[in-house]
Amino acid sequence: MSGTKLYEGKAKILFTTDDPNILLSRYKDDATAFNALKKGTIANKGEMNCAIASHIFQYLETQGIATHFIKQISPNEMQVAAVKILAIEVVVRNIAAGSICKRLGIAQGQPLKHPLVEFFYKNDDLGDPLITDAHVAMLDLATPEEVAQLKQLALDINKHLQAFFDRCNLILVDFKVEIGVNASGKLLLADEISPDTCRLWDKTINDPKDRIMDKDRFRQDLGNIAEAYQEVMKRVLAT
Ligand code: TMP
Repeated sequence: MSGTKLYEGKAKILFTTDDPNILLSRYKDDATAFNALKKGTIANKGEMNCAIASHIFQYLETQGIATHFIKQISPNEMQVAAVKILAIEVVVRNIAAGSICKRLGIAQGQPLKHPLVEFFYKNDDLGDPLITDAHVAMLDLATPEEVAQLKQLALDINKHLQAFFDRCNLILVDFKVEIGVNASGKLLLADEISPDTCRLWDKTINDPKDRIMDKDRFRQDLGNIAEAYQEVMKRVLAT
């Protein structure tokens, strides 16, 4: 049973439950891009992303990554641990795509020598700007110890996700994670892992548009959006 609405984001709604340590996360079909300048829906996305994220959270738990996931309770709802979400979006990149290409003039598809961890300030009014460790400290977004842990956690998650998606015949180009702090001060992977938050390219397709299996199909109006999510879900659930 869901309680009161705590927070409504662009892709999910968080509700309280009878247990103050547990929240209910309901995944929506709504899709936005470019800080909600572009809005739409993707048929069945809530259920697809909930199934994908549930499976991936459980996989990451088996690999020793602590997550907020407790259990999936309906096709588009999961119970998660109540945490304080850090106002930092942590992005890990293996191949250059999206904003880094515009920002630094790197060619789309250029493999990076090492995985790159970037921090963005989670602030819609400011358009989630890129920030450095110094800004994190200045804005008091996390302690220096948490920053060091965040970077290591992001790289560990990347290693496990890369291996997982490789088995799905998908290349993990980049992804964004949000991290929560629980009552004991422990960092937990929170939010979601899905084609909304990852760039995934089909390993067997070379065409730079046809290979896109994630929200870039929506951002760039490439068509077959729900079909791509469906295919990712099929492969993830079989892996
Ligand atoms: P970017 O190239 O636009 O910075 O995106 C990097 C990764 O982060 C990409 O996998 C998409 C994901 N992402 C989100 O999950 N939410 C966002 O608001 C943005 C801008 C990107």
